Amino acid sequence: MPGRPPHSATGGFVTGTAGDQSIAGRFGPRILAWADELAAWSESPDGLTCTYLSDAHRAVAGRLCALMQKAGLTAVIDAVGNVVGRREGTSPGARTLILGSHYDTVRKAGKYDGRFGILAAIAAMDDLHERGQQLPFAVEVIGFAEEEGARFPTAYLGSSAVAGKFDSAVLAKQDAAGTTLEEALRAAGFDPAAIAGLARPPGNLLGYVELHIEQGPVLRNEGLPVGVVDAIAGATRFEVAISGRGGHAGTVPMAKRRDAVAVAAEIILLVERRCSTAAGLVGTVGQVLVPDSAVNAIPGRCELSLDIRAAEDGLRDAAIADIKAEIERIATRRKVGIEVHDMLQTPAVRCAPRLQSALAASVAHCGVPVRRLVSGAGHDAVMFDGITDVGMLFVRCGNDGISHSADETISAEDADLAARVLLDFLTNFTTSAAF
Ligand code: GLV
Ligand code: MN
Ligand code: MN
Repeated sequence: MPGRPPHSATGGFVTGTAGDQSIAGRFGPRILAWADELAAWSESPDGLTCTYLSDAHRAVAGRLCALMQKAGLTAVIDAVGNVVGRREGTSPGARTLILGSHYDTVRKAGKYDGRFGILAAIAAMDDLHERGQQLPFAVEVIGFAEEEGARFPTAYLGSSAVAGKFDSAVLAKQDAAGTTLEEALRAAGFDPAAIAGLARPPGNLLGYVELHIEQGPVLRNEGLPVGVVDAIAGATRFEVAISGRGGHAGTVPMAKRRDAVAVAAEIILLVERRCSTAAGLVGTVGQVLVPDSAVNAIPGRCELSLDIRAAEDGLRDAAIADIKAEIERIATRRKVGIEVHDMLQTPAVRCAPRLQSALAASVAHCGVPVRRLVSGAGHDAVMFDGITDVGMLFVRCGNDGISHSADETISAEDADLAARVLLDFLTNFTTSAAF
């Protein structure tokens, strides 16, 4: 809405230009160019793969650090690999607003999942720096080192450390090559014992705000460039290990088999069936591993991942209870061992009403109708639930909302608008409590 003055939750106007259409186009092309540049560092020649502590991952961290420094932030790489850029506020002892997302990727990823949120925050801070505009509160822009769980069977390593939720038991987890997380950290020059010290005292935090691509089709279907997240679905992940009996594919009669992959097939269809019974409930077996498999051998072992999500915890918990009970029945009937290990559990998160309102005001201020929506995907924001107020802004995803895929896209115009919303939010953000 050109001409409308910047808003302030306390009624006083502050200087800010983000709602001013004259700055349209300042951020979008730059953010997309940065994302292209970061995507050039990949573990796989055919597509973007940047998993925790790989050479590509370390290179991206270095570049993010340099971008943050250029944006006037004091930037460091912390003990878990997070890239942390900080700018002090004008009020002495001011509390800190964290702007973050992750820079690791899934295998064969898109360029924007996680990275968009970091780059949009850098672009907004760079603009404030160039114009010499101070904020009364401190800001940390954090590129979290790991969120996806693509290398080790765990997730949210970076944000859990900052939120004070790092579980040192994960240091013993192994990647596919048998390297433990602790070994990988030491090999990269990090001190695992220092991770616990990364936790921010909750009393020092003003809130946590994350920009992210929607990774779904809602905004695209409604012709909207951005949306305000009101809740993030909870997720539970399990590792399922099936132990049957291997044997010769040509000699063991069908009635005598204890085929671990046939059992896996039953479990996969069970998950699909049970998670199709309620809107908003989803279940996925994303990884199936058949160790030492051969075309002429009955599989004796199979390992599965299981990921179940819903915006309502009760819905998810009921589905998990049913699936676990049915897995036990399958084990008995098929005479196999099935172990189900908990891997990750994050409850559904409600975004803070005050941050939703402030982001919505900035969306409106930039001339866009306000749409609130639920996030089906998990985000680093989840780790800050219960630690500080959490807010999220989604930017429209192209290509029918496809993400976790090389087909993921966003437009420069939408990236630009989202960064302007963030800038407007920052220049107007205040709180009834002291900074
Ligand atoms: C993260 O991308 C997740 O939702 O699993
Ligand atoms: Mn992701
Ligand atoms: Mn993400």
